[in-house]
Amino acid sequence: MPLKLSCVAAELTQIHADLLAIGVFEGASVHIDALAPIDHALRGALARLLKREEFTGKKDQTVSVDTLGQIPAHRITIVGLGDKDKLGAPELRAFAARAAREVNATKGTALAIALPELPDPLRVRAVGEGIVLGAYRFTRYLTGERKPKAMLAKAALIVPPGTTIPLGHKKAFELGSRLGESVCITRDLVNDPPNELTPIRLAEAAQKMAKERGLQCRVFDRKELQRRGMKLIIAVAQGSANEPRLVHLIYKPAKASKKRLVVVGKGLTFDSGGLCIKPAQGMGEMKSDMSGAANVVGFMSAVAQLKPAFEVHGIMGCAENMPDGAAYRPGDVFGSFDGKTVEIINTDAEGRLVLADALSYARTVDPTVLLCNATLTGACVVALGQHCSGFYATSDELGERFNKAAKAAGEQFWRMPLLEDMKESLKSDVADLKHTGDRWGGSISAALFLREFVGETPFIHCDIAGPALSDKAYSFYTKGGTGHGVLTFLSFLDQM
Ligand code: BES
Ligand code: MN
Ligand code: ZN
Repeated sequence: MPLKLSCVAAELTQIHADLLAIGVFEGASVHIDALAPIDHALRGALARLLKREEFTGKKDQTVSVDTLGQIPAHRITIVGLGDKDKLGAPELRAFAARAAREVNATKGTALAIALPELPDPLRVRAVGEGIVLGAYRFTRYLTGERKPKAMLAKAALIVPPGTTIPLGHKKAFELGSRLGESVCITRDLVNDPPNELTPIRLAEAAQKMAKERGLQCRVFDRKELQRRGMKLIIAVAQGSANEPRLVHLIYKPAKASKKRLVVVGKGLTFDSGGLCIKPAQGMGEMKSDMSGAANVVGFMSAVAQLKPAFEVHGIMGCAENMPDGAAYRPGDVFGSFDGKTVEIINTDAEGRLVLADALSYARTVDPTVLLCNATLTGACVVALGQHCSGFYATSDELGERFNKAAKAAGEQFWRMPLLEDMKESLKSDVADLKHTGDRWGGSISAALFLREFVGETPFIHCDIAGPALSDKAYSFYTKGGTGHGVLTFLSFLDQM
């Protein structure tokens, strides 16, 4: 059932909703004026409550009350938006997401979000994104009592009476919700269990999305990967009963300009570590080791709706890393799609192998920028924590552009250095390269290894190992798969 959206200018006492979330700027008198009609309907109880709670409109300060039938909205939540000048798209997205989460928690189906004034279209879009991102729940495997009885069906953006709402703003609101839905495609894939979401199923999910959105999609099966010489993807998958896949999604506008963005993602539907098996503790989290590829699916779904004037490609390296009699081993040497030979050191460093072939395949479409994303190293999580991704760029100019994109999207990314002297640690006695370096700086040596397969192409690699999966909801992210990165890639696309 699609979410019904509307943008209206109306008096807050006239709004029918399960939850009316009212955003107010910081500053004593302003918000009291806007709330006066409700306060009047509640016979002064609201003003007393706000006073008791010392509500000033400071960012994220919240006061919630049930209206007990005094106004049509069943419940109101008043949320401080903080300083008016600091209220950007990310803040509005997080505000909307919190409101949507509260509707879920209170088993409502209709949400109204009231703002003190109509923001610009980009911010209105962010409200649309936030509603969908906050309302998201993964319920596919819940039955009976556990199945949620209510889900968000209606969402309205309310601005003060008398405000004219241009059509462009209404469209931005709807676009935002559709972009939010795209990120939710990513989340569904990340949350799906690894017995269900095998590499084949992941490729099918990409195909299904492509068909719905009018994108081209090519899928290479094991035979085709073999024929093309993608030996590293095959090597990683050879210990698994589930065949690997390489997926190539293509968005091509009628009159495309020369630019071409290519986004590549790591799609390990499960990473047991292989023969260098991981400890039992937390191994289940490795179902999310396909988050980079899932981001590609969500991103391409959004691209199909944003319709940029240049080509965009999405490439996913999909495999499962398992130990068995046919599994690849430390000491093995393999060729690659690029031609370079690689000595295997640790079978748990499988991601960079799959990506090496995916990246050198990506070069065949001649990218202006090659953007890689992967849950690549635990070392990156140690360095930056669980709410921030690391990224590497082959030039300062490109790094700056990516930084700006992440800021605009409101996602945390921190640039890491490609330290040239660490290349030494990837030297092998028997092959062109070892695939892991020394113990320290593990995220950096992984990035250096990937760079060996992109030639001179301007290259960004994002290590999303920390934020891809979350053990709690925060900002506009939900518990479980977050889709962290998709909005940043969209904002990078926007800049191009
Ligand atoms: N998928 C893991 C990285 C990972 C760790 C993602 C924690 C999310 C959370 C990756 O394949 C891996 O196992 N990397 C190894 C590399 C090492 C063997 C050089 C690591 O980080 O320990
Ligand atoms: Mn691994
Ligand atoms: Zn992995």
